[in-house]
Amino acid sequence: MNEMLIEKIRQFAESHFADDGSGHDWWHVHRVWNTAKHLADAEGADRTIVEIAALLHDVADWKLNEDESQGLNTIRDLLEGDLPPETIDRICDIISRVSFKGAGVDTPTESLEGQVVQDADRLDALGAVGIARTFAYGGNRGRLIHHPDQPPQMHDSFEAYKKNKGPSTNHFYEKLLLLKDRMNTGTAKKMAEQRHRFMEQYLDHFFKEWDGEL
Ligand code: ADP
Ligand code: NI
Repeated sequence: MNEMLIEKIRQFAESHFADDGSGHDWWHVHRVWNTAKHLADAEGADRTIVEIAALLHDVADWKLNEDESQGLNTIRDLLEGDLPPETIDRICDIISRVSFKGAGVDTPTESLEGQVVQDADRLDALGAVGIARTFAYGGNRGRLIHHPDQPPQMHDSFEAYKKNKGPSTNHFYEKLLLLKDRMNTGTAKKMAEQRHRFMEQYLDHFFKEWDGEL
């Protein structure tokens, strides 16, 4: 029963995100789904809830939708009849809390399942894949790669974070390098460390090249 439902949701997610060019394509969802399964097993979270929330986690994302509630309605329509209303509520609650909203903005996830999905999504923002996604997103939104006179800003409100149009390199300081210390689960913290170090090495190289030192 669950296998068939997950396959239905997987197919929906694959077609929903097929054409995205902002680093939020189906393969992002696929990686988050795989990582979420691994974290769920390591941390003892409910696999069905985690898998469904991971597959649908970006459907209602504020970066990809004008209206978050429209995305949540799409999710409710998809799941209605297949799952009890309380389970659908749990999944929607996880999805509405998953996204990063600024350096100084707390995004609490209360359930273990929510923590696992948020960690899996954040892990995909780190390391070699995270670097590729950051510049893909910047290109997709018409941002510069780097601008030496536009320093990073630590946004303390979601509104300020949303409005930001800074160069892609700022995103490392405004979000990506902060994530290692914001992982919810011990398993994700360990996975984040290596990816964090790789981004530091990358940035070191980037700025040396920028300054003509390499
Ligand atoms: P989250 O929900 O935490 O924002 P997502 O799965 O939606 O996670 O993906 C976020 C990714 O999108 C970032 O890690 C980065 O790769 C890209 N991104 C988002 N905002 C920016 C930005 N301002 N500049 C560059 N990349 C960004
Ligand atoms: Ni995501």
